[in-house]
Amino acid sequence: MKTLKRIAAGILSTALLLGMTSCAAKETETSADANVDAAAAFTTVESGKLIMATNAFFPPYEYYEGDKIVGIDVEIATAVADKLGLELVIEDVEFDSIIAGVQSGKYDIGCAGMTVTEDRLKSVNFSTPYATGIQSIIVAADSEITDIDTLVSGDYKVGVQSGTTGDIYMTEEVGEERIERFAKGNDAIIALTSGKISAVVIDNEPAKAFVAANDGLKILETPYTVEDYAMAINKDNEALKDAINQALKELTDDGTIAAIINKYIPAEG
Ligand code: ARG
Repeated sequence: MKTLKRIAAGILSTALLLGMTSCAAKETETSADANVDAAAAFTTVESGKLIMATNAFFPPYEYYEGDKIVGIDVEIATAVADKLGLELVIEDVEFDSIIAGVQSGKYDIGCAGMTVTEDRLKSVNFSTPYATGIQSIIVAADSEITDIDTLVSGDYKVGVQSGTTGDIYMTEEVGEERIERFAKGNDAIIALTSGKISAVVIDNEPAKAFVAANDGLKILETPYTVEDYAMAINKDNEALKDAINQALKELTDDGTIAAIINKYIPAEG
């Protein structure tokens, strides 16, 4: 029951965001030159470059293949940068330093499977959402934890990636003393496999990748919340946000974004 309510709230916020998005898109369409004007007006941290901050331990959105960072976010950001005539530069940093870095003008965008939240909107702007995520609960295959309510009501320790929505929600649910924060999702998984913690709450696609790569883990069938992923942009750079949204709209309309997501997350069924 509790869980259902949480999901309903997530879907509501998605609907609101999509509503906002379509209004904004209509406005740009009324002026034929809007795209050109926006493209001419925006500035970036370094001319000719689009500097993207991410945390590259979050498959399939961003992860290392050898010493190269690849994934859904990298491909979408590259396609956006191409449209803006910019070269994408990726900086792999701690997840919980991304918003501050965008806010202080160190990076042009934060693109990290980053969820749009009310709180983050106080510090940065977000682009149009380009994907959705669900918070999932990972436990040992033989765990007695069956859903969010058994997890919350027991005395279990919960692992999260520091500063993520999983961290924010679970801290609220179980309190500081039962939360173990890790710099990388994978470090939380290692603590789970070694029995130091009883569950990890993290976004569903990385959860699937981590469970596939480690024996003896499972994802609970009860999804926790639904969230929108978008790019974080400095609040003073409305022109860059407009240009990025225009690029995202074109990449959505011509099927590029769906194709990128499909390549990494083959449609089920
Ligand atoms: N969606 C979650 C959030 O925004 C987790 C994102 C973690 N991303 C990463 N690249 N490590 O808080």
